[in-house]
Amino acid sequence: MSEAVQPIIEEEEQKPESRMRELPEENAVRVRNVIKKYELGTITVEALRGINLEIRRGEYISIVGPSGSGKSTLFNMIGGLDKPTEGRVYIDEVDIAQLDAYELAWLRCRKIGYIFQTFNLISVMTALENVTLPMIFAGKTADESIQQGIDILTTVGLGDRIQHKPLELSGGQQQRVAIARALANDPAIVLADEPTGNLDTKTGLDIIHLLRTLNEKNGVTIITATHDTKMLDVSDRIFHLVDGKIDKVETREEINLQVGMLDGEEVG
Ligand SMILES: Nc1ncnc2c1ncn2[C@@H]1O[C@H](COP(=O)(O)OP(=O)(O)OP(=O)(O)O)[C@@H](O)[C@H]1O
Ligand SMILES: [Mg+2]
Repeated sequence: MSEAVQPIIEEEEQKPESRMRELPEENAVRVRNVIKKYELGTITVEALRGINLEIRRGEYISIVGPSGSGKSTLFNMIGGLDKPTEGRVYIDEVDIAQLDAYELAWLRCRKIGYIFQTFNLISVMTALENVTLPMIFAGKTADESIQQGIDILTTVGLGDRIQHKPLELSGGQQQRVAIARALANDPAIVLADEPTGNLDTKTGLDIIHLLRTLNEKNGVTIITATHDTKMLDVSDRIFHLVDGKIDKVETREEINLQVGMLDGEEVG
């Protein structure tokens, strides 16, 4: 009912700030002094060199930075897929280093949806089987999983490709299967590593729209690594990563200001 009587506002102009105000206070993600070193024989690569950040529930965050700056490494830490050499990662204010194997598996299966840079689809399984697998892990029945799997694949525009295996799909289609799989168990947090990297402009925009809708309607926290300016446009904040460190954080207001300045320059 309240929706029906809501006044029509100038959506595009008011959205960014009003979105920030509606966000709950709780942190979805908190990273404290995280260092990650990879040891390769005698060589040590320090991929993350003291990361501190907080991401509130329902925020839409973009992480940008040059190749090798540590974006995927940071994702692996936040997603509980790898352990920091030093420092702590908190999901919903729980230190994930304190979770036992069962709790960590639950976190990975139910709470976080992963979209990997390299898709990581299972090659012998069809698109539908790839998407329903996490649902089966989560205890859903086969019938329920199949119906939901078809629905999600249809949402990402692959309703007519559900029986195809990854190698029978284009790169962009594989990416969309990976996105569908990430959404399989209604995650509270989506970690998306270059989710539009292999997509044409139109499909990329569809995916951005889908992630943004999940973010706005369902309050899903979205964290993406991206070079896509269209993706930056919808972000609440942008973290700039340089050489394993956060170099700069831009807020929604600053992003708007930049757009304003660019407009001004164009006029001048
Ligand atoms: N498993 C690993 N073993 C050793 N070094 C690694 C490993 N994974 C990443 N690195 C190194 O850590 C650094 C950060 O890598 P990472 O993949 O996080 O970068 P990125 O910002 O995601 O880059 P891109 O934009 O190319 O995806 C790089 O120098 C990389 O070579
Ligand atoms: Mg990467």
